[in-house]
Amino acid sequence: MLNFNYYNPTRVVFGKGTIDQVGALAAPYGKKVLLHFGGGSIRKNGVYTQVTGSLKKAGLQVVELGGVVPNPRLSLVREGIKLCRDEKIDMILAVGGGSVIDSAKAIGFGARLSDKEDVWDNYYMNQDCIVNDTIPVGVVLTIPAAGSESSTGTVITDWDNNLKRAVNSETIIPKFAIMDPQTNFSLPAYQTACGASDILAHLQERYFTQEKHNDLSDRLLESAMKNVISYASLALKHPNDYRYRAELMWTGTIAHNNLLNQGRVGDWASHDIEHELSGLYDIAHGAGLAIVFPAWMKYVYRDNLDRFVQYAVRVWGVSLTFDDKDAMVESAIDRLEAFYRALGLPVRLSDAGIGNDHIHKMSESAMIGRSNIGNFKKLYAPDVEKILKLAL
Ligand code: NZQ
Ligand code: ZN
Repeated sequence: MLNFNYYNPTRVVFGKGTIDQVGALAAPYGKKVLLHFGGGSIRKNGVYTQVTGSLKKAGLQVVELGGVVPNPRLSLVREGIKLCRDEKIDMILAVGGGSVIDSAKAIGFGARLSDKEDVWDNYYMNQDCIVNDTIPVGVVLTIPAAGSESSTGTVITDWDNNLKRAVNSETIIPKFAIMDPQTNFSLPAYQTACGASDILAHLQERYFTQEKHNDLSDRLLESAMKNVISYASLALKHPNDYRYRAELMWTGTIAHNNLLNQGRVGDWASHDIEHELSGLYDIAHGAGLAIVFPAWMKYVYRDNLDRFVQYAVRVWGVSLTFDDKDAMVESAIDRLEAFYRALGLPVRLSDAGIGNDHIHKMSESAMIGRSNIGNFKKLYAPDVEKILKLAL
């Protein structure tokens, strides 16, 4: 187990009726709140009314910026930064999913740069960047998926250049996250499935490490993976069942708040390759991961066969037959693909209507701003190209 220094300050307020607390939770950060949201789901399911009612009751002034799209755009981030400066915003409240939260985080630290600096060049295209300051961000989460409600990350897309890039910093972890699973009742089946795929991916990225002797994290990750696998299909069958939504929602936070990352180095190549897909084709992140992860596994599993055998046995219940470890891993990958398909997700590029035209371009683009991706196995552009070809 590697040494570690774990810090996660997000206050999680979880359960039925908790959105009414948002005014009281936001008030200590100042009087003026930027309410940041997406394309309108919060107006349809009543979350907008609950949030604005509570903010008003707490005596807070609200400035609104809606219109965040999945794979959130740099252009709206820049608009938000200007708005925060003009309106002297004290705190940003992200109401929605990972896209809204990531956009809020980018606006938060972008607004603290000088006028001459640019949020994209300074941070997203600079892997050595350190974020030291931000407008505080609070969250009302409406979809379990990205884990951004309690993560160090933000992922933004520069649509003009088809680049999707991340920034990670403890400074940008949200101050609080309100999570009422009842808000998930209105999620379309496809979004529920994409969310479950992302949660599973966050667990798998952490599971596939070359670090040995990190057994507690292994076992917690395996349990969390089994939880997603069980509850994703139940939530799809019974979308208004609180128990199933609650299980998925809490697993989504645990999967990405870095607790399960301690003492080890996770992989993250599948995420980086997926970001190329969604940066170019605007595909949902969870759908892209369902395509990339099995292909990545096929490409790398011999680099630590025993770790993949453990995954096959403990997560997918593949029987332990020592004579053919390759067959055991292949069986686990088959089961993973069957799980994705049962959720209605694509597992090949062709399922998502994507051909091989831009595979070379994506492989090259994955290396922009960095020398390689992945830690379980270091990958370079030719490796990424082979993985994407395995996904055709
Ligand atoms: O825009 P609205 O109308 O709100 O609709 C959204 C959106 O269309 C809809 N939705 C959300 N809650 C709903 C709802 N519809 C009905 N009822 C509700 N309760 O769902 C759609 C998808 O929303 P989005 O925020 O894009 O989903 P998700 O949470 O999966 O976020 C995906 C983004 O997060 C990034 C991804 O790359 C992607 O850009 N990630 C962020 C991470 C982080 N910051 O730590 C880590 C992840 O690995 C991921 O990369
Ligand atoms: Zn993800």
